[in-house]
Formats: sequence, structure tokens, C-alpha cells
Amino acid sequence: MLAGLGGWLPPRIVDNDELSRHLDTSDEWIRTRTGIGQRHVVDPGMSTVDMAVEAGRRALHSAGSRDVDALVLATATPDQICPASAPQVASRLGLGNIAAFDVNAVCSGFVYALATAAGLISAGAACSVLMVGADAFTTLLNPKDRGTVPIFGDGAGAVVLRAGEPDELGAMGPFDLHSDGDLAELLIVPAGGAKQKTSDNPEDHYFSMQGPAVFRHATARMAESSRTVMERAGWTVSDVDRFIGHQANIRILHATAKQLGLPADSLVVNIERTGNTSAASIPLAMVDAVNDGTLQAGDRVLVSAFGAGLTWGATALRWPDITPG
Ligand code: UT7
Repeated sequence: MLAGLGGWLPPRIVDNDELSRHLDTSDEWIRTRTGIGQRHVVDPGMSTVDMAVEAGRRALHSAGSRDVDALVLATATPDQICPASAPQVASRLGLGNIAAFDVNAVCSGFVYALATAAGLISAGAACSVLMVGADAFTTLLNPKDRGTVPIFGDGAGAVVLRAGEPDELGAMGPFDLHSDGDLAELLIVPAGGAKQKTSDNPEDHYFSMQGPAVFRHATARMAESSRTVMERAGWTVSDVDRFIGHQANIRILHATAKQLGLPADSLVVNIERTGNTSAASIPLAMVDAVNDGTLQAGDRVLVSAFGAGLTWGATALRWPDITPG
């Protein structure tokens, strides 16, 4: 069950007007096409581990206990390609020699890592897990690419999961997870990995995205996965109090809600102030929604994400009585 929640954003804010001074874009275009007004960006020297530590600390404070047996870090931007970043986060938080590893499902990372954390608990491998979603996605972007720079921001969000009863508030699941590697090229950093360590073309080291194609897949897959989870949970559309989708584009969230037949006011949306923070976007949206009273104990919450890979998935929970740390 969900027992703690926290989020952290780097202090530097870049608004659309600042971006428009260096890129052929405008506040009007970015707001209308994406719903984004600003994003938080890491300064040189600040890393995914730094952000994950801050969010993790807040989630542990929210849970009221630092007693966790495992740390799962969802990230596509680890501090180094090898090793994973989770052990460094665990050490920096003073959590001792607990199990710690990364999950890379890019923007679906939060839902994938949540299922992994819940699985560790059901398997008896852990009683309590700190799960952090953190990405310094702006470090992957080509500063000249107006197709990606306005969209992404940096940040971290974290939850603590504990063993509990299936009918308790905060109990997680069912989960629905999927992938389609045939479409990996739609969102990709071509070079830097084992297949092509370096490239003469500097652009190959940057993240590239075929935006309109991704938009169509994101909407269809998030709706499909949400339907599956509702069916498995025995919920109808009218049972859903809040839909928390990956904050990629406000138009994707509205289109997904429309496909599902969910009213627009059930959507949790904070993309205006954060942009797309990849694996951090759902927990950061949860923090804002609890703080502004949108999300309340007992609410039936549907969660869905979509990202590079391709990957997508969904889950459901009754919201617990927690205060973000
Ligand atoms: O997080 C995981 C997955 N990622 C996503 O889910 C992102 C999915 N995709 C999207 O959110 C949208 O496709 C984008 C926001 C990336 C782009 O929005 P769009 O409505 O699909 O725009 P588009 O690429 O079809 O471009 C429409 C027009 C084009 O001009 P013309 O050909 O109609 O004259 C673009 O050149 O807008 C132009 N354009 C821009 N104009 C100003 C594209 N980017 C910009 C820009 N500023 N930043």
C-alpha cells in the first residue's frame, strides 16, 4: 500500500518566453499545443541522483519511517551508463546496504517501477520499498530542437510502499504493462549505448522524437491500458474520481479522457508548471493534487503512463490519507 509521497524540482525555472529567445517558438504555440508554461531545469553539476535523493527524503518523511528494505529508481537518465544510480541514492539517504536497482521504462517508468516495488513486497523480498522516479531529461536534448526542448523538464517524485491488506486505502493494483520494441525509433537516443558507442554526427547523441506519431500511440495505448485496469478492478467509468496520466501534453490527457468517457474535471494536470518530467511526472502530479485538495483520501484513482520503448501501462488505487513530505 502507498504510505508516503514526496517530490522535488530543481530551483531553476525556464519559462516559454525565455525559451523563445533562443528557439524558433513562442509562448502561444507551446501553451496551445502542449499546455506547458514553464519547466524546471537542472544546473550543470546537478544530476538525477541529486534530485532522487531530495524526493526520496521527502517521501520517507511523509511515510513517517526510514525503515525500507529496497529502493527502486525509475530513470532513463542515470548519472552513469554503468552502474545503476539507485545504490548511490540509497547510500546518500543513509539507508544502508538495502537492495537497490534501476528500472528504465522512460516516461512509463513510474508505473513499471511501482509494479516492480509491489512485486518485491508480494514476493516476500521486501516489507517496505522506496520507489523514486527521477529524470534529468533536459540533459538529453538538442538545444536547437524545437520539437523536444519546449516539452521536457527535470524533476523527481517518490513514494513509499508497504505491505498491507488488499481492501486498505492505498492498496495498489491491478497493474497492466506493455511494450512494443518495433517502434523504438519513434523516441530514441541513437548513440552512446552498446550498439553505437559514439557517432560522428553529434545529433545522434541527442534524444529525437517523432511527435505526432507518438501522440497518436500515447492516446490510444493509455486509454486501452486504463480500460483493462478498470475491467480488472471491477470499476466502471463512473467509479473513477481522478485520472492521473503521464504529463506529456495536455491534449493527450484530454484526448485519452475523451476516449475513456471520463469527464475533463477528473483529470489531474500540473504540466503547466513542470513540463514533461518523464518518470517523475505522475508522482509530482500526485503531490500537487494532494496539496491543492484535488486528491483526497478514499478517491478512486486511475493512473496511466506511456513512453519511449515503446512502453505503456496503468494501475488503480483508492487514495490513502497521506501528506506529502
Ligand atoms: O513523454 C513520452 C512521450 N512523448 C509524448 O507523448 C509527446 C507526444 N507528442 C506531442 O506532444 C506533440 O506531437 C508535440 C507537442 C511534440 C508537437 O505538437 P503537434 O501538434 O504534434 O505539432 P506538429 O509536430 O504536428 O507540428 C505542427 C506545426 C508544424 O508546422 P507546419 O508544418 O504546420 O507549418 C511544426 O513545424 O507546428 C510547428 N512546430 C512548432 N512551432 C512553434 C513544431 N514545434 C514547434 C514549436 N514552436 N516548438
